[in-house]
Amino acid sequence: MARQKEPQVREFPNGFLWGAATSHFQIEGYSREMQARLSDWSRWIFEPTRILDGTTAEQACDFVNRYVDDIELLDSLKLNAFRISLNWPALMQEAPGSSIQLDKEAMEYYRRVLQTLKDKGITTFVTLFHFCLPSWLADRGGWLSRDTAHEFSRFTAEIADSLGDLIDYWLTINEPMAYVYQSYVSGQWTPGLKNDYIAAFTALRHILDGHARAYTAIKSRLPNAPVSFTNHWRPFFPENPINPLDHWVAYLRDQVFNQIFPKSIKTGRLEFPAPLGFYRRINELEGEIENLKDSMDYLGVNYYTRELSRFKMALPLDIFGETSPTIHFPTNALGWEIYPQGLYHVLTDAIRPYLNGPDGKPREVFVTENGYADVFDSKLSEGDWSLDDHKRVNFLISHLEALHDAIKAGVNVRGYLHWSLIDNFEWAEGLSPRFGLIRVSYPNQSRMLRKSASIYAQIAAKNSIFPDLINAAQTIDEQG
Ligand code: FCB
Repeated sequence: MARQKEPQVREFPNGFLWGAATSHFQIEGYSREMQARLSDWSRWIFEPTRILDGTTAEQACDFVNRYVDDIELLDSLKLNAFRISLNWPALMQEAPGSSIQLDKEAMEYYRRVLQTLKDKGITTFVTLFHFCLPSWLADRGGWLSRDTAHEFSRFTAEIADSLGDLIDYWLTINEPMAYVYQSYVSGQWTPGLKNDYIAAFTALRHILDGHARAYTAIKSRLPNAPVSFTNHWRPFFPENPINPLDHWVAYLRDQVFNQIFPKSIKTGRLEFPAPLGFYRRINELEGEIENLKDSMDYLGVNYYTRELSRFKMALPLDIFGETSPTIHFPTNALGWEIYPQGLYHVLTDAIRPYLNGPDGKPREVFVTENGYADVFDSKLSEGDWSLDDHKRVNFLISHLEALHDAIKAGVNVRGYLHWSLIDNFEWAEGLSPRFGLIRVSYPNQSRMLRKSASIYAQIAAKNSIFPDLINAAQTIDEQG
C-alpha cells in the first residue's frame, strides 16, 4: 500500500496521548475452573465450533501474571496511555446464599495494575463492560433483562469507590452495537441468537439504560471524572454510487450501527429510523431513558474499516440490504479493507453532530481503538515469523496521517490508542489473528517487539510523524 502524499513533518498537539488498548478477557487468562464459573464468554469458548481456530482464552497472554513486564514494555515504547477493561464477572461474584459481592482479591489485582501504570505516569482508560457478563447475570437473560442495567450501575458504583482514584478516563460500554449485532443477529458471540432484531434492540435499550445509570453513579462520586463509551464507527457507502436503493441501505445501516447510540445519548431518547420504528415491537422500545441525555463527556472512537452496502430484494428480514463482497483496497488478513480515509471521514464528518453541544461538551475526541491483523498459528513459538510487519507499519502511519489531517481540519483529537499492545484472543476468531505491536508466542508466552512497535515508539517519542520514518516505512513496504 504505497502512500501518495509527499512525506512531511506532522507534529501532534502538546500533551497528545500515545497509547494502546486491550480488554481483560482477551489478554488476562484464568485457570479453567475460574473461567468455567465466571462469565458467559468463559463458558462459550468451551462449546465446540464456537471459536474458529479451536483455541480458547483460558491462558490468553497470561497478563494477570505478567502485567508488570508488559507495562514495562509499554513504557519502554514511550507510550503514555493504556486502556484496560475490568473483569466484571471476577469483580462481582455470587457468594453462597446468592448475594452479590465485590471480590476483594480481584479488586486488589486491578489496583496493582492501575498503580503500576500511574507510577510510570501513564494515563489510564478503563472500560467497565467489554463484552463479558458475569454468568449469574447471563443466566438471568443478560442484557435482555432490565435488571442487568441495575447490576451494572451497582458494579460501577463499587468501582468508583474502590478504584476511582486511579482511573483517568472512564468508558462504560465497549462498542454497544457491535456487541448486540454479534450476540443477537450474526449469532457469532454468546448467547448466539440469529437475526433476532427484537432481542438486539431490547438489549440496546437496556445497555443505554445501564450506561446512563453508570454515568450517574460515577458522576455522583467523582463529579470531574471524564466518562464516555466507545463507538465502533464503520462508514457505510453504497456499492453503486448512482443506485438510490444502495444509498438507502447504506443510510439505514449507518443510522442503526453508527448513529443510534450517540444520538440517543444526545437526545436522551431511543428512536429507530423508518421503517424500523413502524414495527409495533420495535416501536415499543422507543422513548426517553432517565439520565441518558448528554451522558458523554468526550468521544471514544474505534475505527477499523468501512463497508459497502447494497440493496437486495430477496432479504426482507435484513431490511432488504446486505454487505457487498466488492473490495477496492488491500485488506488485512481478516479481509477488512484498509481505508484510512474512513478515519478522516469519521473524525471530521460522522461525529460532528455529537461535538460541542450547548454546554460545550463533548470537546475532546480520543481514538480508543484502531489496528491491523495478520494471522499466524497460535502454536508457533520460536523464530522470526511475523516480526517484520511492514503492513501494520503502513496501516499505522496512514491512519495517523488521516488523524493528523483531521486535527488540521479543526477536530480536537487528544490521543490515539492502538489496538493492541500485544497479540491477544480475538473473540470468535480465537488466538490466530495477531493485532499486537508486540508478538506473543503462546506456547511459551514470550514477547518480541515487532517493527511496528519500534516505529510507533519513535512517533510517540517525537510526538510527530517525520519524513525519515515515512521513507524507512516506504522502503520496507517496497521490499515486502
Ligand atoms: C473491536 C473490539 C476489540 C477487538 C478489536 C479487534 O471491535 O472492541 O475487543 O476485538 O475489535
